[in-house]
Amino acid sequence: AAAPLVDPFGRTVSYLRVSVTDRCDLRCVYCMAEDMSFLPKAEVLTLEEIDRVCSAFVKLGTRKLRLTGGEPLVRKGIHELIHSLGRHVKAGDLDELTLTTNGNMLFKYAGDLVEAGVRRINVSLDTLDPHKFQAITRWGRLDKVLGGLQAAKEAGLQVKINTVALKGVNDDEFHRLVGWCGEQGFDLTFIEVMPMGEIGDEARLDQYLPLSLVRAELAKRWTLDEIDYRTGGPARYVRVAETGGRIGFITPLTHNFCESCNRVRLTCTGTLYMCLGQEDAADLRTPLRLSDDDGLLVQAVRDAIARKPKGHDFIIDRRHQGPAVPRHMSVTGG
Ligand code: GTP
Ligand code: 5AD
Ligand code: SF4
Repeated sequence: AAAPLVDPFGRTVSYLRVSVTDRCDLRCVYCMAEDMSFLPKAEVLTLEEIDRVCSAFVKLGTRKLRLTGGEPLVRKGIHELIHSLGRHVKAGDLDELTLTTNGNMLFKYAGDLVEAGVRRINVSLDTLDPHKFQAITRWGRLDKVLGGLQAAKEAGLQVKINTVALKGVNDDEFHRLVGWCGEQGFDLTFIEVMPMGEIGDEARLDQYLPLSLVRAELAKRWTLDEIDYRTGGPARYVRVAETGGRIGFITPLTHNFCESCNRVRLTCTGTLYMCLGQEDAADLRTPLRLSDDDGLLVQAVRDAIARKPKGHDFIIDRRHQGPAVPRHMSVTGG
């Protein structure tokens, strides 16, 4: 077997996140600008090319593949890609094939996902209030996503809800979300908002909420027991004694989890980002298109991993002008 991907800090890379499209059917305020310009098709990897890169990573020891976007379910032919990648799960070469979605198209795809070998999905949902949902997503409809979640449940998918903690926006709903997720049997992770995209986006600074405060607030009403559940992602989990549900905390700003980082990100143009919160990247599209043999591609991947930074550059500070990471979240899918 090929030597595994180990970075200069001794971290083994075993989790690949793949943004299959930069497009999305919503425009969440912390993720995209309202008026985005999307990539021309020639720059975007074909589904066959994405499959080839993913399969090369699997040969190099990747055990977990997550499709993201933009919104992965708006990519044409996504069903075929997921089905094809599912062969690695069935062969025992991959522990998990999954996706992070806004849930908008879930009502249509839930059954297909299960059939393709997906067991668990993550769904972004910041509020249970239809008006707020529309404001955050700029035009999304809450009932459509709730319908998709129901379909996912009925299809037997395990669900994790992703809630970005936004001061003055959804901080009055955290208890309700915990109760609701408990009832539904969904895991719930809270996420600190990361300053990406819009230069000088003041709203991100105003809305930033450290999760230590969220946790302290939750502890007033719920009994939170430490557990050592791990998914390979950055969340640290507790169990809610009253509901039996799990809550995770993703704290890029207040508790750096980079020392145990196990992941890299591929964009839909074939650019590999070694870290979500850092600008260095490697072009995999050129070696991919130069030869049908994976030799050049594998070498480019190894060279990239050798440059993986120790940690991200995120900083929430008013004295700092603009975001440390100018790229929009939708480019790398979080
Ligand atoms: P699980 O497999 O369920 O653990 O998923 P995950 O948390 O790895 O993925 P998901 O797509 O649900 O991401 C949830 C949040 O975690 C998003 O806001 C991501 O941007 C963030 N996240 C995931 N990995 C990293 C990381 O390496 N660094 C940072 N800063 N954020 C990350
Ligand atoms: N900060 C933190 N999380 C974000 N997400 C999107 N943009 C941001 C941001 N600026 C989340 C989405 C989705 C996940 C992939 O990333 O809500 O659930
Ligand atoms: Fe789309 Fe997800 Fe970004 Fe919202 S957070 S605009 S659903 S990619």
